[in-house]
Amino acid sequence: KPKDVLVFYVNGTKVTEPHPEPETSLIVYLRTKLRLTGTKLGCSEGGCGACTVMVSKWDRLQNRIVHFSVNSCLAPVVSMHDCAVTTVEGIGSTKTKLHAVQERLWKFHGSQCGFCTPGIVMSMYALLRNNSSPKMPNIETCLQGNLCRCTGYRPILGAFKTFTENKTGCPMGKLCCKNAPPSEDNPENDCSDCYKPYDPSQEPIFPPELLISSRNHPVSPLKFVGERVTWYRPTTLDQLTDLKEKYPDAHLVVGNTEIGIETGVKGRCYPVIVTPAAVEEISFVKYDQSGIEIGASCILSNLVQQLNKIVEEKGGHLTQPLSAILEMLHWFAGDQIRNVAVIGGNIMTASPISDLNPILMACCATATFMLHSRGTRKVPMDQSFFPSYRKTCATKGEVLLSVRIPFMRKGEYMKAYMQSKRREDDIAIVNAALRVKFYPGSRKVEEFSAAFGGMAATSVMAKNLMENIIGREWKDDLIDDVSAWMREDFKLEQNAPGGMVEYREALTLSFFFKFYIHIKDCLCKEGATQDEIAPEEECTKVPLGGNHHVSPSTQTWEEVPENQPKDDSVGRPLPHSSGQLHVTGEAKYIDDITPHADELYMCLVTSTRCHAYVRDVNLADAMTSPGYVTYVDHRDIPGSNECGVMNGDLVFANGKVTCVGQVIGAVIADTCAHAQRAAQLVKITYEDIFPRILTIEDAIKHESFHKILHLNAGDAAAALDASEYVIEGEIRIAGQEHFYLETQACLVVPQLESDQMEIYASSQSPTFLQDNAASVLGIENNKVIVRVKRMGGGFGGKETRFVLVSNPAVVAAKKCGRPIRCMLTRQEDMLISGQRHSFYAKYKVGFTKEGKLTSLVNNIYSNAGNSLDLSISVMERALYHSGGCYRIPNISIAGHVCKTNVSSNTAFRGFGAPQAMLIAEDWISGIAAKLGISGEKVREINMYKEGDNTYYGQVLECFNLPRCWQECRQKSNFNERKEKIEEYNSKNRWRKRGISCIPTMFGISFTGFFLNQAGALVQVYKDGSVLLTHGGTEMGQGLHTKMIQVASTCLGIPASRIHISSTSTETVPNTSPTAASVGSDINGMAIKEACEKILGRLKPLRENLAELSWDDLIMKAYLERISLSATGFYKTPDIYCNWDQKSGECFGRPFDYFTYGAAVSEVEIDCLTGDHVVLQTDIVMDVGGSLNPAVDIGQIEGAFMQGYGMMMLEEPLINIRGELLTRGPGAYKIPGFGDCPRRFNVHLLQNSRNKRAIFSSKARFGEPPLFLSASVFFAVKNAVESARKHSGLFGAFRMDSPATCERIRMWCGDQFTKQYEKHTQNDENVKPWSFQA
Ligand SMILES: Cc1cc2nc3c(=O)[nH]c(=O)nc-3n(C[C@H](O)[C@H](O)[C@H](O)COP(=O)(O)OP(=O)(O)OC[C@H]3O[C@@H](n4cnc5c(N)ncnc54)[C@H](O)[C@@H]3O)c2cc1C
Ligand code: FES
Ligand code: FES
Repeated sequence: KPKDVLVFYVNGTKVTEPHPEPETSLIVYLRTKLRLTGTKLGCSEGGCGACTVMVSKWDRLQNRIVHFSVNSCLAPVVSMHDCAVTTVEGIGSTKTKLHAVQERLWKFHGSQCGFCTPGIVMSMYALLRNNSSPKMPNIETCLQGNLCRCTGYRPILGAFKTFTENKTGCPMGKLCCKNAPPSEDNPENDCSDCYKPYDPSQEPIFPPELLISSRNHPVSPLKFVGERVTWYRPTTLDQLTDLKEKYPDAHLVVGNTEIGIETGVKGRCYPVIVTPAAVEEISFVKYDQSGIEIGASCILSNLVQQLNKIVEEKGGHLTQPLSAILEMLHWFAGDQIRNVAVIGGNIMTASPISDLNPILMACCATATFMLHSRGTRKVPMDQSFFPSYRKTCATKGEVLLSVRIPFMRKGEYMKAYMQSKRREDDIAIVNAALRVKFYPGSRKVEEFSAAFGGMAATSVMAKNLMENIIGREWKDDLIDDVSAWMREDFKLEQNAPGGMVEYREALTLSFFFKFYIHIKDCLCKEGATQDEIAPEEECTKVPLGGNHHVSPSTQTWEEVPENQPKDDSVGRPLPHSSGQLHVTGEAKYIDDITPHADELYMCLVTSTRCHAYVRDVNLADAMTSPGYVTYVDHRDIPGSNECGVMNGDLVFANGKVTCVGQVIGAVIADTCAHAQRAAQLVKITYEDIFPRILTIEDAIKHESFHKILHLNAGDAAAALDASEYVIEGEIRIAGQEHFYLETQACLVVPQLESDQMEIYASSQSPTFLQDNAASVLGIENNKVIVRVKRMGGGFGGKETRFVLVSNPAVVAAKKCGRPIRCMLTRQEDMLISGQRHSFYAKYKVGFTKEGKLTSLVNNIYSNAGNSLDLSISVMERALYHSGGCYRIPNISIAGHVCKTNVSSNTAFRGFGAPQAMLIAEDWISGIAAKLGISGEKVREINMYKEGDNTYYGQVLECFNLPRCWQECRQKSNFNERKEKIEEYNSKNRWRKRGISCIPTMFGISFTGFFLNQAGALVQVYKDGSVLLTHGGTEMGQGLHTKMIQVASTCLGIPASRIHISSTSTETVPNTSPTAASVGSDINGMAIKEACEKILGRLKPLRENLAELSWDDLIMKAYLERISLSATGFYKTPDIYCNWDQKSGECFGRPFDYFTYGAAVSEVEIDCLTGDHVVLQTDIVMDVGGSLNPAVDIGQIEGAFMQGYGMMMLEEPLINIRGELLTRGPGAYKIPGFGDCPRRFNVHLLQNSRNKRAIFSSKARFGEPPLFLSASVFFAVKNAVESARKHSGLFGAFRMDSPATCERIRMWCGDQFTKQYEKHTQNDENVKPWSFQA
C-alpha cells in the first residue's frame, strides 16, 4: 500500500505532513506553512531564480548524498518526500553568523533591493556544497538561472570570485582597499583579509535519521490525494506502466518544469499525476560499442556528468552527438532546471523549440516505449516521431523508457547550433543539428540528416536538403544549391507563430554554412581534401568573444581625506544598510508580513479585450469555487472610481475596457490559490469596439494623441534650408518592462473603530497612494496611513501604477472589513502595469561640411497607452533631452503623446531621456556616415562647452562632460583599440568588432516643479540613538544608507547609531515620489536641516560641556527638557521654466544641475547569427563628491545593465488583439549574468564638487548612467558597418532599438539574408505574429 504521509526535512527539522496538497509548490509550503519567507517568489516559472533552495537526498544510483539547487516555485512539495531542503534561513543569520557566501555578498555590495539575493546565495551555496573550491566558469554556470535587475552582476561575480583560487575583487570596504585601492595597474586586489575563510567541514550534516532510512530501506510508493489532484509515486517500472495504462490521461511528471508552468502559470489542472522519479529502471545511462542508451528519467545534470565521462573515455569522434548534447545543455535553462528536468520530459513535451530533439533526430536516435499490457516497442526518432504541435507518436497509456543514440562511424560528423534572444537561460529561436557521412576516403556525401527546431509546429527535418545533397561533393559550389533546397524546406508565413520569419529562415542557412566550414576543416585535417578553409573564416571556429570568462574589473573613486573624522561616514563605501538582511533572507517585503488571522487574498479580474464594451460579468462558477468570499467592482466604491495621475484612470472599468489587462473587478477568497482559481472562473462577455489602436503607427494613422508638445528655438526650417547638408532619418525604440523582482504588492488593514486604513505597500510614492486610497474611499487623507519598508526594485514602475492594485484592495478591505493582501503574479504585473514608452522619431538634421550642427527638426512619438498617467512629463523630459549633449542653434521638436489601446505606459528610469538621447545619437551617427568621419569626431565638434546655453535657455555651469569624455577615452585606450579592431575586422569575415564612445548629460529635478520638495523627521532618543524618517523610499538604490550617512555626518555620530524603520505618511506628510534621481538631494537636505535644528538646540549645552559623549549630552538635554525631535524641509531653489505651448518657445532653468558621464564599449558580433558579446565597458561618471562610492558604483553598473537590456535585448511584443505576448521571464529576456561586459570598469570622476546638492554630491545614480549603454548599441552599429562593407553595403542604414540578434543578423546583409529579404510577399493586411506597440 502506498504511503500517504509526506515526510521531509527543512533546515534540519523534520516536517511531517499528513495531508499534503499535490498542487502546492515547495515555495508556497515554505512561505505560508513554515513561514520561511527568505525564499522569494519572482515569477513562478523557473525563470528568475529568486526561489532557489538547495535539496539534498540519498541518491541510490550513485550511492551517495547529492546536493542540488532547485526552483522551489516549480517543485511540488510532494516531490520532496525523503529529501532535505535547505533555505537561505538554514545557512546563516544575523542573529548567529553569516555563511561565507552571505558575508562576502554583503561586503562586496552584491545586493541592492535584495529580492533576488536569497536565490543567488542559495545557487552559490549549492555549488559550494558540491565543489568547495570552484573555478570561475563553475560559478558563472551555477548563476545562469538567476536574475538580478539592480546590480549589473559585477559585484556578485566579484564576491563569489573570492571562493576561487584566483581571488580577486574588492569589497570597497575600509579593510582592504583603503590600503591598496584597486587601479588599472593593480586590479587583482586580494581582499582575503576582509572576510572569514570558508570552511566546508562546518556545513550542516544530512539528517541522520533520513540517511539511515534512505540507505537501509527500499524506496516506498506514495499516493497523495488533494483537493483536485491525486499524485502517485510508483517505485517500479511495473507499477509505473500499470498506473499509466489505468489512467491514460495521467501526466507523468518528473522535473515538473513543463507541467509546472501549465499548472502554476496557466492555471491548468491535471487530476492524476504519476511521477516516475523513483523508478530506477528508467534513470540509467549505459553504453556499449555502438551507442549509448539514456533512461527517460535521467536528470539533465546527471546526464552532463555521464556524457562528459563517456566523451573522455571514448574520444571525440565517436561521441559527437554527445558533445552536441553537452554543448546544448550548457545553454539549456539554468542549473536549477537542469538539476530536476529529465530527457524524457524534454522529448515527450514535443516542443518545437526543444533543444535536444533536433539532435536526437539528426543522429538517428531510437526511442523505446512501453505499454503495460503489450510490452516495449522501438521507434526511430525521425520526422514522423512528432506528428503535430506538442504531440509525439506515443500511443495512449505508453511510457517512454529510454532513448538510444548511436555513436558516429568513420567519416561521419555532426554538430548542433542554436540561437536565442539571450545568450544564457533562454530557449532557442532556431536550433539545428546536422549530420553528414561521406563515402570512405572522399568528400562525397553518403548520408545526411538535418533537423531544425523553431521552424514549424514541431522539430522538423529538412527533407529537400537531405534528399538532394546525397552524392554531392563537399565543395563551395554546394552552398548556393543548399540555399535553394532549404528555401523550399522552410517557408514561413508572414504571420507565422514566433515571428521573426525572415531571420529564422536566414538562420537555417547560417547554421548550414557554419556546419559547412566546420566539416570542410575536419575533412582537410583528416586528409580527405586539400581544400582548406579561408583564413578569414577561421573565426567561426572559436566561441564568440573567445572562451567565456569574466576578466578582472576596476572601480576607482576618490578616497575621503585622511583627516576626515572616523565617525563622519559621508564619502565612505559603507555597505547597504539592509545588506545583511538581504543576504540572510531576513529583509521583509510586503508578502513576507505575517498574515492576520482574518486576512483575505485578492486576485484581479482583468480584461482580455483591448477595446470593447463589457456586456456581462457572470460569477456563477466563481462563487462555487472553494474559498470564494466575494467579488468587488465599481459598484462597491464608496468614493470616486477615478484614480491615478490627474484622475485619468479608473479603479474598475465601468462598462467599457480600453486595453487588455484593464482591471474590471477582483475576487476575494481565503487563500491566494483559491482567489486565483475563482478569478479564472469569472466569465465576461464583451462586444468589441473598432478601431483598435495599438501601435504608434496606428495612432498616427488615426491621429489619436493625448497631447502634442512643441519646443522651438531659432528658426529650424530656415536653417535647414540654408544648411550645407541635410539628412533625414527614422528610428523606433521599443518599450521596456520594469521587471523589478518583487511584483506590485500591498496589504490593506482596515481599522474599523476609526474608519482608518493602514496600507503596507511596495510603492515609490506613499503620498500618491494615500491620496488615491482616500479619494476612492471618500475619506480624508488623515485616515489613510501608508507604510513602505522597502521595495524589491521599482525603477519608476511603482511611482504611480501600483494604485491598480492598492485601490481595488482598499475597496475590498472596506467591503469585507478584513485585511486584504495582494501580490501580483509576474504575468499579471507585466500585463497590467505598463512599461517604458516605446518611441518613434522622424527627423531632419542640418549640418556643415565639417559636421557642425545647424538645425534639427524632429517629430517624436511615444506610445502612452490607454491613459495619460505620467506620459506628458515623460515627453517633456524627452524634449529637454532631444539635443543630447550637443549645441544646436535652431531646433523644432514636436512630441506626440499617442493614445492607444495598450496598458498605460509610465515612468521608467530615465523618464523619456534615454529614448530622446538615443534618437540624438542616431542622427549624430547619420552625420558621421554621411561625411565619412567617425561618430566620436561629430560628437566632439558639437559637444556643449562651459557657459553654453541649452536650447531651453539653461546656462551650463561646472560643465564636466568634456573631462568625463577625455578621461574615458584615455582610460579605455580608445584610439589604440579602434585601430586593433580595424585590423581584426579586415582579417575576419564572419566576426566583427566595434567600439564606440558615448557621452551623457542628464538634467536633475522633477520637471513638475512642485515635486522638488522633501521633508524629514529626526528623533533622538534618551539613549542617544536616532530614528530617522524622510520622504524617500528604499527600493534598493541605497537611499536609506546614504541618508543615514548624511545624518551621521551632520550629527557627528557613527552611522550605526542611526536607524530608519520605514517611510510612512504618518511621520512625513506630503512626500514626493522617490524618482527623478533627486531622492538623496532633496531628502538629504531636509535631513540636514532637521539635524541642524537639533544641534542648534544642543549648542548651549555642548558649549559648556565639550567633553561630554554624545549619549551623555543627549541624556543631559533630555533632563534639561530640550526637544530632541525636529522636522526638516527642503525645496530646490532657482528652478523655473517658461514654456509657451503655442509658440513652443521655452526659456528657463528646469534643472537644478546636470550629471555627466561617458562610456566606451567594445563588442564582438557573429555576423551569421546576430549574436554578440560585450568585451569591455569603461565608464567615467561625474558624481560630484560621492556620498557613498560603493552605492554610486552599484547604481552606475545596474543602470548600465538595465539600459543595455533596453537597447540590446528587451522587446515587449503584442499581437493583433493587443495582448502582451512577452509576459514572464520565459518570453521576456532581461540581461543575465552572461551578458555582463567581460571587463567592466567604472571610474568616478575625481575632484568634482557640486555646490547645488548635499555635501557636494550629485544625484542618486539611478537614471543618468542608464543611457551610457548606448555605447554598446553604437559599438554594434560600428561592427555591423564593417560587416556591411564586406557585402558592398556602404553608408547609413536604419538601426532600431533594441539591437536584437534578429536585427543585427539582418542588418549585416549578405548572400544569405538577401535570399530572404521580403521573399514572403508582405501583405499589408497581414500583421506579423508579434510586433512592438
Ligand atoms: C525556465 C525554463 C527553462 C527551460 N529551458 C529550456 C531549454 O533551454 N531548452 C529546452 O529544450 N527546454 C527548456 N525548458 C523546458 C523543460 O525544462 C524541458 O523540456 C525539460 O526537459 C522537461 O523535463 P521535466 O522532467 O521537467 O518534464 P515534466 O514537466 O516533468 O514533464 C514534461 C512532459 O513529459 C512527459 N513525460 C515525462 N516523462 C515521461 C515518460 N517517461 N514517458 C512519457 N511521458 C513523459 C510528461 O507527461 C509531461 O507531459 C525550460 C523550462 C523552463 C521552466
Ligand atoms: S520564482 Fe521561481 S524561478 Fe522565479
Ligand atoms: S538586488 Fe537583485 S533584483 Fe534587486
